[in-house]
Amino acid sequence: MTAICVANNKGGVGKTTTVVNLAAGLARQGHTVLVVDADGQGNATYALTGRIHPVPSLYDVLVDKTTIQQVLWTTNEDNVWLVPGDARLQNIDVELAARAGREWKLAKALAGQTFDYIVIDTPPSLGVLTQNALAAAHGVVVPISLTEFSLIGMDKLLATIDDLGQELDIPDLRLLGILVTFFEDNKLGRETYGILEKKFEEQLFATVVPKNVKLEEAHRRNESILAFAPNGPAGQAYAELAREVKKRAGAEQTPYSRRRAGAR
Ligand SMILES: Nc1ncnc2c1ncn2[C@@H]1O[C@H](COP(=O)(O)OP(=O)(O)O)[C@@H](O)[C@H]1O
Ligand SMILES: [Mg+2]
Repeated sequence: MTAICVANNKGGVGKTTTVVNLAAGLARQGHTVLVVDADGQGNATYALTGRIHPVPSLYDVLVDKTTIQQVLWTTNEDNVWLVPGDARLQNIDVELAARAGREWKLAKALAGQTFDYIVIDTPPSLGVLTQNALAAAHGVVVPISLTEFSLIGMDKLLATIDDLGQELDIPDLRLLGILVTFFEDNKLGRETYGILEKKFEEQLFATVVPKNVKLEEAHRRNESILAFAPNGPAGQAYAELAREVKKRAGAEQTPYSRRRAGAR
């Protein structure tokens, strides 16, 4: 089981879109995939099922009211399951503040699952939900919107992920890659991409997700881009990303049970 967290403290960079379509891509390559919606906006939940703020959800798992098994849903995408999120997650920082081991709730809850991949969506912040997602993950995918591109913000984010890894004592948490999204093939787009390529070198995924309105249309229909427009540029990009993530994540993962042993 390989767990992947998609994180960036900026909103609107394509995190949820990447979670949903990376999951669909992996599923269509023959794997079982669990999506965990750790964002109180519940966008991944909506995109995969059409439901809005269902209860119970991941929230109830994180506050020890229920188990993952009780909130495990099928989705509109074959071989993709979902642990939904709802709006109550937005206040969970406060509720978990006094609880010991609050960053490890998700990792503990997921231990024992047998999906090939777990893909975790996160809110646009580095609060306790993102910390839980990182603590539960082997690798992080960081989407960066080429239109909202900010190198300074990016450095800080990567440093913060590093710090969190050390603070939480998860030395094998690694950056799987930085994913360029909203790419526009014009002079400015190519120039910006060139700067990123120089700066991040092989940390950058070779796959680039184009700016493409079909991605938004697919969300509205509660379908992945691989169901809605598999042969378009966005569909091809996410299929390719799934192959690249698989390669980068590799096979030799720290067993989940051992990571969990670090849980306090
Ligand atoms: N590559 C893209 N091209 C065009 N629209 C996109 C693309 N990726 C995401 N979107 C749309 O942009 C909005 C923000 O994307 P989203 O994945 O929700 O970002 P985040 O989860 O980081 O806030 C959504 O409406 C989504 O449908
Ligand atoms: Mg989102």
